[in-house]
Amino acid sequence: MKYRVKDLGLAQKGFSRIQWAEREMKVLRIIQHDFQSAKPLRGLRIGACLHVTAETAVLAKTLKAGGAEVFLCASNPLSTQDDVAASLVKDFDIPVFAIRGDTTSDYYGNIQEVIDYEVDCTIDDGCDLVFYIHKNWDNVRKKPQFGLEETTTGVIRLRALEASRQLKYPILAVNESFTKFMFDNRYGTGQSVIDGVLRATNYLLAGKVSVVCGYGWCGKGIARRLSGLGSRVRVCEVDPVKALEAVMDGFEVGKLENFVKEADIIITATGNSHVVSSKFIKASKDGAIFANAGHFDIELELDEFKDSLKQVEGRPEVYELQLEDKTVFILGQGRLVNLACAEGHPPSVMDLSFANQALGIEYMSSTHKSMEPKVFKLPDELDRKIAKLKLQSLGIDIDHLTAEQEKYLRSFEIGT
Ligand code: ADE
Repeated sequence: MKYRVKDLGLAQKGFSRIQWAEREMKVLRIIQHDFQSAKPLRGLRIGACLHVTAETAVLAKTLKAGGAEVFLCASNPLSTQDDVAASLVKDFDIPVFAIRGDTTSDYYGNIQEVIDYEVDCTIDDGCDLVFYIHKNWDNVRKKPQFGLEETTTGVIRLRALEASRQLKYPILAVNESFTKFMFDNRYGTGQSVIDGVLRATNYLLAGKVSVVCGYGWCGKGIARRLSGLGSRVRVCEVDPVKALEAVMDGFEVGKLENFVKEADIIITATGNSHVVSSKFIKASKDGAIFANAGHFDIELELDEFKDSLKQVEGRPEVYELQLEDKTVFILGQGRLVNLACAEGHPPSVMDLSFANQALGIEYMSSTHKSMEPKVFKLPDELDRKIAKLKLQSLGIDIDHLTAEQEKYLRSFEIGT
């Protein structure tokens, strides 16, 4: 079996981390149990480009339980948990291609290795695997028949491919399930970004002025958690509706150029490029901390500073940038802070996201033949099934409509 991980000797620790995560991933465990007997994915070869974490390992186990073969590469050069990668190879016979700190060329080499395994379908987090396949379509020996995409950034790229009529096979946008974006993006990112900032810096957030750029589901989660820890939160947003929402959620909203001088911490969560341009980095105050929570490392404009970044001794994920009159700090080299500086979203929320992946792949494997090469959503009933299973796993029972209430909701006769 061909694979590329840092050190198989790390497998024992990785195995324990996978077991720890699995305890909290109760929906995925239920699906794993069902898959084990029904084998709905029998013979399916799945190429997955995901963050190689303990939570992803539980998804890979689940897909294998369903009868699939899984081939995994990293979806970011800095998010790989090397011990988990080792355990996936050693304990679960899953070919993994990922080493934390990989160069860009190694990163794409890993993707190529997964494609070389001749996969039937793809799972992506950020659309790098799908984009690479499309770019090299004529040289891809086995053309995938369908795919799934995990994240907002990936779905934006896929919709652009679809709009330009270049998308070659149908893809399920997992990010568009309610049980994905309302939980993973908001509570997962909200908590794990704070986790990344704290593990990197060990700073007190109470009293600090924090600026959150972007008030989508991720930005909302981050702003709320910063506020909960006593930070004085400012929000920058280009969409007037979202900006108004931030105002009414109680945050100070305005332009970055007006907030940047007093900010202690600036966090981007927009999915767009150069949100904090180098001009703003230069205008910030001495000691300011910059972090990016978006999928790609393009939100902080660091190009002109790349060679000047120096790792701070004793703080492995903090990079110092000496400017003319001040020193500022960049976390995780501007890569997504929750995975570069911490462990990503906690297992309980990845449980929902990856339940979408597992049920989504089962759904796509039986329906893709009748689908056009477009972007689709998971059917509502499967989305709701995941919410029900999560509530059940939390021991929470909810009310149900009476027959009379159901009838009322279908009627129009009863009014004043
Ligand atoms: N994306 C964000 N957090 C993650 C995690 N823990 N595992 C896999 N993908 C993630």
